[in-house]
Amino acid sequence: MPHPDPHKRLAEKNREAFDAGGAERLEKQRRQGKLTARERVEHLLDEGSFVELDRFVTHRNADSGIAKVPGDGVITGFGTIAGRKAYVFSQDFTVYGGSLSGGHASKICKIMDLARKAGCPVIGLNDSGGARIQEGVESLGGYAEIFWRNTQASGVVPQISAILGPCAGGAVYSPAITDFVFMSESTSYMFVTGPDVIKTVTHEEVTKEALGGAHTHASKSGVCHFAYPNERATLNGVRELIGYLPSNNLDGAPIGECADAVDRPCEKIRSVIPDNSKKPYDVRAVIGDVVDDGRFLEAHREFAGNIVVGFARIGGMTVGVIGNQPAVLAGCLDIDASTKGARFVRFCDAFNVPLLTFVDVPGFLPGTAQEFGGIIRHGAKLLYAYAEATVPKIAVITRKAYGGAYDVMSSKHVRADFNFAYPGAEIAVMGAEGAVNILYKREIDAAKDAQAERARRIEQYRESFANPYKAAELGYIDAIIDPKDTRAMVARALGMLKGKREKGPLRKHGNIPL
Ligand code: HXC
Repeated sequence: MPHPDPHKRLAEKNREAFDAGGAERLEKQRRQGKLTARERVEHLLDEGSFVELDRFVTHRNADSGIAKVPGDGVITGFGTIAGRKAYVFSQDFTVYGGSLSGGHASKICKIMDLARKAGCPVIGLNDSGGARIQEGVESLGGYAEIFWRNTQASGVVPQISAILGPCAGGAVYSPAITDFVFMSESTSYMFVTGPDVIKTVTHEEVTKEALGGAHTHASKSGVCHFAYPNERATLNGVRELIGYLPSNNLDGAPIGECADAVDRPCEKIRSVIPDNSKKPYDVRAVIGDVVDDGRFLEAHREFAGNIVVGFARIGGMTVGVIGNQPAVLAGCLDIDASTKGARFVRFCDAFNVPLLTFVDVPGFLPGTAQEFGGIIRHGAKLLYAYAEATVPKIAVITRKAYGGAYDVMSSKHVRADFNFAYPGAEIAVMGAEGAVNILYKREIDAAKDAQAERARRIEQYRESFANPYKAAELGYIDAIIDPKDTRAMVARALGMLKGKREKGPLRKHGNIPL
């Protein structure tokens, strides 16, 4: 029999959906310092822009023996971020711990499909106890449907995961496939197996926080790209990142307003880079002097500090910035720096974001830990990523570019478009000290004053090899520039490269060393 008042009925149903987990569980959520699933969506999106879908979907597993709750533990829909469309799902921990059932998964899959068709980013707000235990394999199937869609959407629309609660078991693999992972300190965790299982299997004792908290994943494992002290800051961070990105692989990134003159001289760089090439400096100070208003959104800030990656704008245009960091491990490339850099380069390439590389690299980090850990395999990832990238590639050699690392870091030979060097740049097979030890060992040993002979040879080598002019003679460097002209030159180069189109060979896909 039809309900006597359909409008009243809808209001009742809506109320039921809004109260999904009940007051007690809501209270628990708040006590833990967490926002509710709906509050998160509201904070993330422009005010009043959220349109919810599937509010009344329930689980559909008759065998699970649990009550049907409208929404089934996840809120899904679309809205805008600074006026640009985005699809969102937000798991509701107050409904069966946000656990994933077949119905819950189908809601997420629906918005992922819509996002791909419409060419919009997908943002997942994760807060879930994982597979809904009562549903068994239906829930596992639901996860796999999401993983498959993550993979299909990879490189088509940006996918961002914010971890705002537990994220355990195979559930971590959807965020891991997405482009950027955000975490909120103290309330979010990611692990494949939790502390109890670890204790049983390996007898290690570890807390949830130490095992899979935001700090651990931001600094040790590199799983997390952006960590913030609380949920609101995390969601603001997602908004900020979205502001730099195109909505899909066929669009350009949004052009930001730019009051910073593109030909502004970079007055700080000369004083930032020490004359003594053994002295460190912070490449962020160089980046800050070049980009619009000194604004740089750094990803992976606490992980592999010897390479710096992030987004900035030049003349309003988004660029992906990569810089060797002389302040950490002298800027050497190691395993973590290589994988960090490679993933960032590939993201930018997939989404038409030009690459601006600041090179100051003495080489790959020596040592058995690196060799046994597979620096050959991992270093090859960065090389592959740069060589594969067809977006505009601009490099500025600020100081050292030695050995294989010279080739890797956006050299002309891996098809960078514009390569600039500062007058003090050293581009050579290896540093002067190492080179003279190999080339002139006999002469140095035979000399009356070995030390003086060594110093003379080092000076000679520097004069002949450790400068940018050999590379410039060969056309490997397009121009040797005064550091103060960096911003103007990069802006001009970017302008010249607008509309660059380059296609790789026809193939199913390359085979990046993994
Ligand atoms: C069904 C679940 C659930 C789950 C939690 N709940 N996890 N219900 N399936 N996976 C329910 C609880 O029964 C409880 O219901 C409510 O959610 C809140 O849970 P609590 O345990 O009270 O919360 P808390 O103390 O904060 O602990 C949170 C937690 C814990 C750490 C997430 O609940 C937990 O360990 N859950 C199980 C995690 C897990 O092992 N998941 C499966 C992983 S394997 P009531 O009614 O009391 O409120 C997996 C495979 C993925 O996910 C496969 C992909 C390939």
